[in-house]
Amino acid sequence: MYLYPLWIRIWHFLNAALFLVLLVTGLIIHFHGAGHSGSATGLTGAIRWHNATAVMLLADYVLFIAGNALSGNGKYYRIRKRNFWSDVLLQAKYYRKGRSGGEKEPFPVTEEQKFNPLQRLSYVLTMYAGFPLLALSGIVLFFPSLEFWNIFGISGAELSDIIHISMGFLLTLFLIIHIYSFTLVPKPGSLLRSIISGYYTREEE
Ligand code: HEM
Ligand code: HEM
Repeated sequence: MYLYPLWIRIWHFLNAALFLVLLVTGLIIHFHGAGHSGSATGLTGAIRWHNATAVMLLADYVLFIAGNALSGNGKYYRIRKRNFWSDVLLQAKYYRKGRSGGEKEPFPVTEEQKFNPLQRLSYVLTMYAGFPLLALSGIVLFFPSLEFWNIFGISGAELSDIIHISMGFLLTLFLIIHIYSFTLVPKPGSLLRSIISGYYTREEE
């Protein structure tokens, strides 16, 4: 089944690579700021890399949004089903028992259903809520003139910093679970292969 068109594979590869660079440079900036060791040139370099890769990640995100809006891939991100939450629970139970339980996958991959309900939920939250918040707070941090506002005594600078760090943390948590979840399917490695080749192969194929 051809489920991952070239544009989504290019988006995903860039997204993953740039995210990792941003994570590392973000951590360097953070711990430098907290008074830990590290040279000033190291900090300048980390900020420069963080800024440059952030611009690339933002451009890549535009590709993701436009691609999903204009191609059929957007349908996999729509949450409409009335029993969505019970389906999420069903998938979570399957993951808990895992392959060792010998159960059949409750939501096998089909052309109509590329993601199981848990994947769908986590991808929607990550790409349409977490990521925009991370990007917006990052843009505000980059243009301090946008930090003029003050909410309940918390300055714009402080709030954008808190949002940026929290979203960075949550998306990193998503990434760890994202990768771990690929080991819980009937054929571990099948999903990794499909995001590279574009084709998903079922167990029996
Ligand atoms: C989406 C695009 C992003 C933009 C526009 C952006 C922008 C920025 C800016 C302008 C800063 C302040 C740098 C300075 O002090 O001069 C910053 C800091 C930081 N960023 Fe990002 N960033 C982005 C993505 C990310 C990602 C993906 C992560 C991690 C997963 C991340 C983690 C951090 C961390 C940890 C800091 C240090 C915050 C602190 O300790 O005050 N950023 N970012
Ligand atoms: C080294 C890092 C990463 C690896 C190895 C990885 C692996 C994969 C694999 C195997 C798939 C296909 C399975 C599926 O469709 O569920 C996938 C899809 C996806 N990944 Fe990742 N990923 C990584 C980083 C990321 C990051 C950083 C994000 C977002 C912040 C992300 C978001 C997504 C999304 C939204 C999809 C679904 C794309 C679509 O078909 O529409 N991934 N990833």
